Amino acid sequence: MKPLIRLEHITKTFGRITALEDICLELHPNEVVGLIGDNGAGKSTLVSIIAGVLRADSGRLVIKEYEMDLRRYSVSRARSFGIETVHQRRALGDQQPIWRNLFMGRHRTNRLGMIKHREEKQSAMAVLKDFMGLTGVGIHPDSPVSKLSGGERQGLAIGRAVYFDSDIVILDEPFNALAINEVQKVLKFIRRLKQAKKAVIIISHNLQQIYDVSDRFVLMDRGRIINHIMKSDVQLDDLTRILMKIAGTTP
Ligand SMILES: Nc1ncnc2c1ncn2[C@@H]1O[C@H](COP(=O)(O)OP(=O)(O)OP(=O)(O)O)[C@@H](O)[C@H]1O
Ligand SMILES: [Mg+2]
Repeated sequence: MKPLIRLEHITKTFGRITALEDICLELHPNEVVGLIGDNGAGKSTLVSIIAGVLRADSGRLVIKEYEMDLRRYSVSRARSFGIETVHQRRALGDQQPIWRNLFMGRHRTNRLGMIKHREEKQSAMAVLKDFMGLTGVGIHPDSPVSKLSGGERQGLAIGRAVYFDSDIVILDEPFNALAINEVQKVLKFIRRLKQAKKAVIIISHNLQQIYDVSDRFVLMDRGRIINHIMKSDVQLDDLTRILMKIAGTTP
């Protein structure tokens, strides 16, 4: 199968800090890749480049066989290629109501270019309540995002990826601030994406959860990918040990 995304020799510096060095990575349909590594390893920087939030300094980025111009690559271009990202630092508009957040940058409009408010509000509620199963009292299309709980915000961001039928979904620490039930919901959602032949990159410090849901692991350390491991080749214990060794701690 042809890769959905191919990164070749990607580098990224912030002033004198080299956050990413010589990153090569492929992502295929129907797979979940767990991106793991210590704090500051470069995981968020890497997915931010794929999401178009950060610009790579050099290397190649090929999406669905199209070579991207690194200088022009952006969030909207990433989205137009079916890439949806749930960021660690959430990228929701806090003062905006729920429904506007769901349709941000992609409003449904009539022939005159006017936003179809009612339709968008109805869809927003369907995604949050029926699909994501959110039942909180604050879940109303007109509530501002700032009034939602951490888990509800996560649900909204994930719901957006589902609703727009993205081919590639990136989740950076999606379990933070989630209750047990919500974690299970996100895991179920990831499995559903895989069944639908999509590709997922997931970052988490919770190895148990990431082990359960991933097909493959990509290990990062100080801005480099140091290992690719298939799940079939590793037990959770081994993975934990490998990570502890990278971090310089012994079990
Ligand atoms: N905007 C920035 N300016 C300067 N340095 C940055 C910036 N963003 C990230 N860095 C640095 O780049 C390195 C990688 O950061 P990144 O956020 O990608 O790590 P991470 O693997 O996601 O860590 P964590 O698990 O803690 O989220 C860190 O040393 C960080 O301090
Ligand atoms: Mg991070």
